[in-house]
Amino acid sequence: MRQAGVNTVSLAIFSWGRIQPSEHEWDFDWLDCVIDKLGRGGIAVDLASATATAPMWLYESHPEVLPVESNGDIVNPGSRQSWRPTSPVFKRYALQLCSRLAERYRDNPYVTAWHINNEYGWNNRYDYSDDALKAFRIWCRQRYGSIDALNEAWGTAFWAQQVHSFEEVILPKHMGSDAMVNPSQQLDFERFGSDALKDFYKSERDTIERICPDKPCTTNFMVSTEQCSMDYADWSDEVDFVSNDHYFTAGRSHLDELLCSDALVDSLALGKPWYVMEHSTSAVQWKPLNSRKRAGELIRDAVAHVAMGADAINYFQWRQSSAGAEAFHSSMLPHAGADSKIFREVCELGEALKTLADAGLQGSVLEESHAAILFDADCEWATRCQTLPSTSLSHWHDVRTWYQAFLDSSSRADVVPLRADWTGYDTIVMPTMLLLSRQEADRIASFVHGGGRLVASYATGLADDRFHVALGGYPGLLRETLGVRGEEFNILGKLEGDPDDVGLSNGFTSRLWENVVTSVAQTARVLATYSGDAAVDWELDEVPAIVRNRYGAGSAYYIGCDLGRSDIAGFVDTELHDLVTAADNRVVHTRRRGAQADFDFYFNRSKDKATIHDVPGEAVFLYRADAVDSSAVYALDRSGVVVTASSR
Ligand code: GLA
Repeated sequence: MRQAGVNTVSLAIFSWGRIQPSEHEWDFDWLDCVIDKLGRGGIAVDLASATATAPMWLYESHPEVLPVESNGDIVNPGSRQSWRPTSPVFKRYALQLCSRLAERYRDNPYVTAWHINNEYGWNNRYDYSDDALKAFRIWCRQRYGSIDALNEAWGTAFWAQQVHSFEEVILPKHMGSDAMVNPSQQLDFERFGSDALKDFYKSERDTIERICPDKPCTTNFMVSTEQCSMDYADWSDEVDFVSNDHYFTAGRSHLDELLCSDALVDSLALGKPWYVMEHSTSAVQWKPLNSRKRAGELIRDAVAHVAMGADAINYFQWRQSSAGAEAFHSSMLPHAGADSKIFREVCELGEALKTLADAGLQGSVLEESHAAILFDADCEWATRCQTLPSTSLSHWHDVRTWYQAFLDSSSRADVVPLRADWTGYDTIVMPTMLLLSRQEADRIASFVHGGGRLVASYATGLADDRFHVALGGYPGLLRETLGVRGEEFNILGKLEGDPDDVGLSNGFTSRLWENVVTSVAQTARVLATYSGDAAVDWELDEVPAIVRNRYGAGSAYYIGCDLGRSDIAGFVDTELHDLVTAADNRVVHTRRRGAQADFDFYFNRSKDKATIHDVPGEAVFLYRADAVDSSAVYALDRSGVVVTASSR
């Protein structure tokens, strides 16, 4: 580890079975020894509460802690997170472990932080047990106060779902293969699941903090390509520093996707540096096909996380295990041993991170962009609902497409939670934000009225935060701000004999969803309509597709259909051109601002060589890149990185 420059280890995440081999037996000797060895070697310990997975004896004596699937099947032990977040029995054992660890290590100088549990919700995000039911009823009572309010919010008059007391409230369990869950109830169940796990986190944290008040606590979020499953904007206040696990998705968009996930994590970190708690040196082992990283990507990815605000770079796992489910998951020290490409790159990364730290990078913060793409967990949950006009929606997916389109246009946007304060941005983008509370809709309207610029995409603002459709024409909650009114949705798919895409008069193409806009306000200008044979076939010819409305001192764009990445980039180029820089779009640039210096980061997003000009400051770190002629010009190879520092 010293050879690789490792200075922090996250330890004992899944070690409960080793620490407490049976109910009345505790064994800390091995852990004392590991912590001591690390500490004396100059390596700090982020010590886990070790509660992520219980030992087998606990499952045997208390099978009632196991989660239940939607169809009533009990989850078997043997994997991770096989416990009910709402089980009082599990909580008692878990908090006992937290106390024992906190008592033992509170004064240990080598333990510098607490890693509470691990990836809350990975395997127990949805639990349909009796404990969950009990807790859900309490949650509903707290949210609604009266059963009438719940009936109203869930629209229970539909399909005879009325309940007369909170004791009659049920979980949205499997109801038969053709059954459809009440979307309002499902949305609340999603919220409840996130809250139940957050409460569990808070109990663990509070138990440890009571005994060991001086060491910071974190838990690793999971903002990554395929998921952003918890309402992390609601969690981030509860951690002393934000940490995130990010696993790459192989393919052309690998770097873009990493930057987009990190953009959200950086916003969650509330202006403070954060931690990459886990990522991989190369392939994982849990996908159907597990691609390795290409040469250069290990270091490029790690420095990209730093460029987006991370001050610590951790990997799962140190030594590649020889047995068990994760034996083929990459690591820092691979099966091949220290004489290996991966370990050499890990050592090179250790040097690189030291160079950046020595240059004073740590503590500096990511500079804000002018545009914010808004993200909201409720909207992501809502767009995955199975009773919408199309089941192909995902708010998070569309956030990523917009993020990438900005990069394609040589510009960059931040990704900001809806409930944050985004009023300082010039431009906000709302991709597929299906749900909005009345208050949020008002906040958006006054942002535009006061001079802001809004871009709202299809399926935005259709329903309120109870999942009630706002009446009078779509998009009910933003109709006035956007200056449009629609009456129907045109949904495309692979329907035999019907066109599966529709062209727009400006050359763009829609492939999924078109709002049938029937009128636009006098203050609005139609920028594109549907046109061409497919538009005629679908009776969309001449229907407004992209509209710009003047609203107060600001402007609001309405994009009434889904667009692909290149069309969105075309939209950014033409309509948001003030955000577009003259830089080569094959290179992405970020800046971290510190007290003493600013740090500029450049990454080659393409497979080709790219050249950057007028780079400020002195080179601090060049990777797969060279200075050309003068120091302000650099050539970057594939996966190339340039970092410069400018004193303030
Ligand atoms: C999760 C867990 C880790 C490990 C990785 C593998 O993130 O927290 O322990 O299993 O997945 O990618």
